[in-house]
Amino acid sequence: MSILTDTYTLNNGTKIPKVAFGTWQTPDGDVAYQAVSSALKFGYRHIDTAKIYGNEKSVGRAIADSDVKREDLWVTTKLPSQDKTRDLVLADFESSLSRLGLDYVDLYLIHAPWPWGEAGSKHFDEENAEAWKTLEELQKSGRVKSIGISNFDVHDMENILKIAEIKPVVNQIQYYIGFTEPKISKFAAEHDIRIEAYSPLATGDILNSEAIRKIAGRYNVSVAQLALRFTLQNGTVTLPKAISERHIQENTQLDFTINDDDMRTLNSMPDAAPAHFHNSTQG
Ligand SMILES: NC(=O)c1ccc[n+]([C@@H]2O[C@H](COP(=O)([O-])OP(=O)(O)OC[C@H]3O[C@@H](n4cnc5c(N)ncnc54)[C@H](OP(=O)(O)O)[C@@H]3O)[C@@H](O)[C@H]2O)c1
Repeated sequence: MSILTDTYTLNNGTKIPKVAFGTWQTPDGDVAYQAVSSALKFGYRHIDTAKIYGNEKSVGRAIADSDVKREDLWVTTKLPSQDKTRDLVLADFESSLSRLGLDYVDLYLIHAPWPWGEAGSKHFDEENAEAWKTLEELQKSGRVKSIGISNFDVHDMENILKIAEIKPVVNQIQYYIGFTEPKISKFAAEHDIRIEAYSPLATGDILNSEAIRKIAGRYNVSVAQLALRFTLQNGTVTLPKAISERHIQENTQLDFTINDDDMRTLNSMPDAAPAHFHNSTQG
């Protein structure tokens, strides 16, 4: 069994592949089609997209043209963060399914608790509650297997848990060596909400870290491979994005184990990409 077909069991009993393939900033058209087609060919079984990425159509086309059976694949997409009313959520969801060309998605996430650009300005408790109740309705309809959240801090998670009939299965957050969002991760673990590590390579900004390179050398792996393996050993779903076929393939070679001493070192490192963009509500 390869790491690409290893799964975690979520709080609703569904099994999610531990390694996903990210598609943020992967342009729609040939680039997204080729990247997702390569990922499926190399064995990824979990694709992460979002309406706002603008590439659902090409992601869907690559899935349709692949030999992978739908039931063997996990597809996540996301509700645009400014759309919180029932009508907007239902319309967004329909349009995502239609662009993807699918009958259902495995996971639908509220992309963020605040509209982009308003992060940290105030809480959007009522708005997120309305969006969450609508996601619950979608899950009950059977066209979404699981529902979750992204970029939610502790306050925003508490707000959902107060009104939830169905608990979020995951919280997808920025998570990489030296930026593991301990408060959010701890609260999520206490409530059996799995963390999905987005930007596990800090969108590429981690790759020049000499400290990580030194540890990676001990395992004969690249900085990227060590960074991804680190997120897996911390129990998160990891979501590397790549366009280059070499990177797509390299990121599938994660069947090695970082020893306890090195995990301790990595878990106590300062931010490996301090200049990287961070959500102001996290940390
Ligand atoms: N929920 C949210 O708000 C949110 C926010 C950000 C990201 N995400 C999700 O998380 C995914 C990953 O995050 P990200 O897009 O920020 O990027 P990332 O995975 O942290 O880093 C991607 C960058 O690293 C490069 N790269 C990948 N593998 C490599 C390797 N083995 N060696 C050298 N370079 C390598 C890629 O290059 P090439 O592309 O040139 O191959 C790209 O420049 C996203 O695509 C998206 O699905 C979610």
